[in-house]
Amino acid sequence: MSQYQTVCEQLQQAPKTWLITGVAGFIGSNLLETLLKLNQNVVGLDNFATGHQHNLDEVQNLVSAEQWANFKFYEGDIRNLEDCQKACANVDYVLHQAALGSVPRSIADPITTNAANITGFLNMLTAARDAEVKSFTYAASSSTYGDHPALPKVEENIGNPLSPYAVTKYVNELYADVFARTYGLKTIGLRYFNVFGKRQDPNGAYAAVIPKWTAAMIAGDDVFINGDGETSRDFCFIENTVQANILAATTQNEEAKNQVYNVAVGDRTTLNDLFNAIKVALNENGMEYNKQPVYREFRVGDVRHSQASVEKIKSLLGYQPQFVITQGIDQAMPWYINFSK
Ligand SMILES: NC(=O)c1ccc[n+]([C@@H]2O[C@H](COP(=O)([O-])OP(=O)(O)OC[C@H]3O[C@@H](n4cnc5c(N)ncnc54)[C@H](O)[C@@H]3O)[C@@H](O)[C@H]2O)c1
Repeated sequence: MSQYQTVCEQLQQAPKTWLITGVAGFIGSNLLETLLKLNQNVVGLDNFATGHQHNLDEVQNLVSAEQWANFKFYEGDIRNLEDCQKACANVDYVLHQAALGSVPRSIADPITTNAANITGFLNMLTAARDAEVKSFTYAASSSTYGDHPALPKVEENIGNPLSPYAVTKYVNELYADVFARTYGLKTIGLRYFNVFGKRQDPNGAYAAVIPKWTAAMIAGDDVFINGDGETSRDFCFIENTVQANILAATTQNEEAKNQVYNVAVGDRTTLNDLFNAIKVALNENGMEYNKQPVYREFRVGDVRHSQASVEKIKSLLGYQPQFVITQGIDQAMPWYINFSK
């Protein structure tokens, strides 16, 4: 039995109380679904900046009425310390996901990104410390590798940040480390590498590449590739990310605490290959897309290649990614098709 299966069984036998910030967002709502299905008590905090009520409604439809009754939602803002304090009360494990994502959004408006991602983060750390939670797991980012050229990315070797967003995510790691050393808070940072799956928003100027392209293909619109298409990423299906959060929050391994980990698969897919993989998956779902991609300028702030080493998280947390990119796309495709209707 995997470490993840063992932990899930233990949680079902002795349910805990979890706080998910950013619960109405993509990753937050998937964490919510898994934890409620494991009969956990969940508190959620969100201000709907980029999250949606329909994500919460969808989770409600996927769990039983008893499981849904174990969820308490606060509409609130992590930029407000009191909202964070209210949400942290009597919580065992914090999964801090709330932030403003997107490199281009941070380039367009660094001040708003800073307020949510740094001030909000510090508020959450402070509230979690004061509530004496068992652990504080937070969404870090592969953007922290910045201009460091080495592949695969290994946790201790980072470069210079290439965007305000990357700065905020690196500052999160610095604050978490200081709270661990100074106040004894158990923190774990998860450097996500391009997460994708159901409930990832296909709409808006800052949509992520997989939902954006999929929606464009379903609509028969042009798909734009920034650069020559040979830019590469380690795309990580949401179920792997959920696994990493649950393992991190509950780890009993002292050596594993107060660390940051890559969360990915350890593969590398170019944008050209991604384009073809989505086309194939759509085709398998009875939809044709016959256009060629439209190539345009490289985007400022983007890292050229990204691929994670997942050795550290495997050895210290017992993480085993269960889905490679094509399996994840196959799983997510029916949701995208349905969402587009
Ligand atoms: N999706 C990825 O590929 C990826 C990669 C690296 C890191 N991350 C990080 O993972 C986390 C979750 O990302 P996601 O993809 O689910 O994005 P998302 O935009 O779907 O979710 C973020 C959630 O946080 C909420 N939020 C934003 N500001 C808030 C505030 N001030 N107060 C309360 N709630 C607030 C939003 O309303 C939203 O529901 C973020 O911290 C993001 O930076 C994501």
